[in-house]
Amino acid sequence: MSFTFLDKTSEAAIIAKAEAFVKQELGNDSSGHDWWHIYRVTNNARKIALAENANLFICELAALLHDIADEKLNVSKEAGLQKVKNWLAENQVPETEAAQVLEISGTMSYNGGKNQPMQTQEGRIVQDADRLDAIGALGIARTFAYAGHKGHLMHNPNLAVRTEMTKEAYRNGESTAINHFYEKLLKLKDLMNTRTGQEMAEQRHAFMETYLNQFYHEWEATA
Ligand code: ADP
Ligand code: NI
Repeated sequence: MSFTFLDKTSEAAIIAKAEAFVKQELGNDSSGHDWWHIYRVTNNARKIALAENANLFICELAALLHDIADEKLNVSKEAGLQKVKNWLAENQVPETEAAQVLEISGTMSYNGGKNQPMQTQEGRIVQDADRLDAIGALGIARTFAYAGHKGHLMHNPNLAVRTEMTKEAYRNGESTAINHFYEKLLKLKDLMNTRTGQEMAEQRHAFMETYLNQFYHEWEATA
């Protein structure tokens, strides 16, 4: 059975249960999807949703659940989406909201830039919230952590930046932390969906440019 209307107390209860579920599912992940990534993305989503007058409950819930269905953390994308679907049903999230959250989970990830656009304002907000955690000081930290996790070098001046790549190549091909800035991070500012997201991205983007500049100077001892 599912309810058709949620009051604020029921919404808060669902959000609290989603937090507990995500902590349990992603707690030990070391590929950049640990609980604290979810915490930061949810904070970003809340901030953007308030500024853009969007549905706060959908944005928070979708942000909390956005990595549960990630292909990398499941046997398949379908299996991941089924997990989210089951959780929404078990926790009495009404059908309309559940459908929106599920749709957001299914279209979110970057996939080398190959995904279709988000269908709803809430989807655009959660995608911006996730992208903000991939840039700036945090994005830099996550990129080096991910490169270490994959056994990649932090920098190899002889390895060319990939301009065109398939989803599979983006995921599994050879790269370095520094090349990832050009293959993804520096592109994100212009892909932001919302005005608020765009504004938040500006400063983080500028920080990455400053960082790269310093990195190359130190690399060549010209600093
Ligand atoms: P999400 O699905 O949360 O957008 P990803 O799973 O694509 O993130 O990646 C997790 C983190 O690792 C992100 O900060 C991302 O930018 C970074 N990352 C992804 N691929 C690479 C790579 N080849 N080299 C370095 N960092 C990467
Ligand atoms: Ni994420």
